[in-house]
Amino acid sequence: MPERTPMIAGNWKMNLGLKESRDLVKSIAEGIKAMGDVDVLVAPPFINIPAVKSAIGKSNILLAAQNMYHEKSGAYTGEVAPQMLLENGCTHVILGHSERRSIFSETSEMVNKRVEAAIKAGLIPIVCIGETIKEREAGKTFDILGAQLEGSLAYFIAKESISLSAIIAYEPVWAIGTGLTATPEQAQEVHKFIRAWLKDRFGGESSGTIRILYGGSVKPENAPDLMSMPDIDGALVGGASLTAASFLGIINYK
Ligand code: PGA
Repeated sequence: MPERTPMIAGNWKMNLGLKESRDLVKSIAEGIKAMGDVDVLVAPPFINIPAVKSAIGKSNILLAAQNMYHEKSGAYTGEVAPQMLLENGCTHVILGHSERRSIFSETSEMVNKRVEAAIKAGLIPIVCIGETIKEREAGKTFDILGAQLEGSLAYFIAKESISLSAIIAYEPVWAIGTGLTATPEQAQEVHKFIRAWLKDRFGGESSGTIRILYGGSVKPENAPDLMSMPDIDGALVGGASLTAASFLGIINYK
């Protein structure tokens, strides 16, 4: 099986001012100097992306946006296009985060259009999926996740091939910002399902290579157990990515 380099990604959401953003990324860069074998990524709000890019300097911290629109340009007030993200130093873009889906009514169909636009522009999509507590308790977790995968990755399904650099993030909605983390076993069960889905759709090379991140109340304390699971290749971290101490604590999970 191919080696998958773990990724620890910080989703800053609508947090941190300009100075705080610069200071945080500099502290992370300082802290990760001695750490190898982990890809570290931060996703600031759009407006702070250029400042964070310049604060990253020569460090190899990767930069992502938290969302984007699928069109190249035009009359789409308030939206940001893929090329704009690239020009400002992003290599990745988070798509379909549950907050985008639930608060801003984004659907898997919309996510799919953005996935296609990201790939065509040369950005790596981090595609988020996750079930609500109601869906889990009703025994519908795998149906919901399967439908989200089918819908959000329809572009790849139509091509019968998926970009090996694409990333999937499993974020149970009930674990985001709640302090309730999925147990390592619960997360592993879902990650295994996602990997089997990838294998079924795109074959063994894809399922062996594509990274599947877990997100939902990841902290330095629970990261080692989550990361020890065979199908968990990294973490998408919200709250605990907002201070250098906790984010570095997760990055240094080994
Ligand atoms: P959390 O958020 O770590 O604060 O739960 C994770 C996310 O929404 O990506």
